Amino acid sequence: MQTFAEELDQLRSEGLYRSMRVLKGAQGSHVELDGKKVLLLCSNNYLGLADHPALRRAAVFGVAFGTGSGASRLVSGTMELHAELEERIARFKGTEKALVFNSGYAANTGIISALVGRGDAIFSDKLNHASIVDGALLSRANCHRYPHRDMAALERLLQDKPGTGRRLIVTDGVFSMDGDIAPLRRMVQLARQYDALLMVDDAHGTGVLGATGRGTAELLGVMDGVDIHMGTLGKGLGSFGAYAAASQTICDYLVNKARSFIFSTSLPPAVLAPSIAALDLVDSREGKELRDRLSANVALFKERLAAAGFDTMGSETQIVPVFVGPAEATMQFSKELLDQGIFVQGIRPPTVPAGSCRLRCTIMATHDPADLEASADTIARVGKKLGVV
Ligand SMILES: Cc1ncc(COP(=O)(O)O)c(C=O)c1O
Repeated sequence: MQTFAEELDQLRSEGLYRSMRVLKGAQGSHVELDGKKVLLLCSNNYLGLADHPALRRAAVFGVAFGTGSGASRLVSGTMELHAELEERIARFKGTEKALVFNSGYAANTGIISALVGRGDAIFSDKLNHASIVDGALLSRANCHRYPHRDMAALERLLQDKPGTGRRLIVTDGVFSMDGDIAPLRRMVQLARQYDALLMVDDAHGTGVLGATGRGTAELLGVMDGVDIHMGTLGKGLGSFGAYAAASQTICDYLVNKARSFIFSTSLPPAVLAPSIAALDLVDSREGKELRDRLSANVALFKERLAAAGFDTMGSETQIVPVFVGPAEATMQFSKELLDQGIFVQGIRPPTVPAGSCRLRCTIMATHDPADLEASADTIARVGKKLGVV
């Protein structure tokens, strides 16, 4: 049997060893890393709300209700702010009801394992987030994975696996490592035609996509066709936690069955209040301006990378992967960029399939366009030196 230390050595030798970087300062466009100011090009703080004065003020307001919630939701941990946030999310997504979960990971594992079980079927995109994969495993339902965004393959699976149990189609709205978008219009049709529930994890679309920031389903005009809207509060919304927005019945069911909801101390007030402030901001004129600025920044950055010959893997959003391939070359690319003052993480297995390692660049509304242009030029220079382009 391999010891833990031997396994870690093996990861090192394969270029797959991971460790954490400690950032100094808030999640702005620049942060301090190892005593050096660097451009932050790998944060999910897409709208810059994680460092917004209105959210900071809200956190201080939240502390007036104490620092902890003291218990799980079904015991005594449902405070006024939980109820207010859930009401706001339901209004935001246009559903009867919403529930707050402690994180996106907790939401996906809890929702999926509650809604389906042994004898039921899950239909899941091969590139769905790890928390969806883990939720499917926990559920013990039969999980059928279809090739990325391949709707013909999904339809074949729906036809071939009729069964008598419940059927759940689940997809990322925006794919977290590729930045492309699920074909939700077709998925809504297929869910109706084959009597399945449709769940969309919009961790990366919430607050960002669609005319009013409602996310991928708004962008594609299918808000009413999604049965379970899952989203996170810790990325575009700059706070922390996650939600399920759905019918009253589905939410009541989750309250009774979702183990990550039931068996965990609820979020504290200083985390809930900034989420409410973030929803206000998304709906404000400033929210619209931030989304517009983000789109302009994304277009500028992508144009520059495309001109340099990079493969951005069909990205349609603010998540802009730069395809490299092997793990070691990817990490070397990331290291050399850091030497040049640009912090962007290399993404390797098991997060992405072997041989498809990439730099995952994420754009923020708060990036200065001039910094993005300069960073794209640096990426091009380093990429040419390393033979990526
Ligand atoms: C698509 C997707 N779903 C779920 C999660 C988990 O959300 P959280 O970070 O709130 O646990 C993430 C990100 O981490 C994600 O990218």
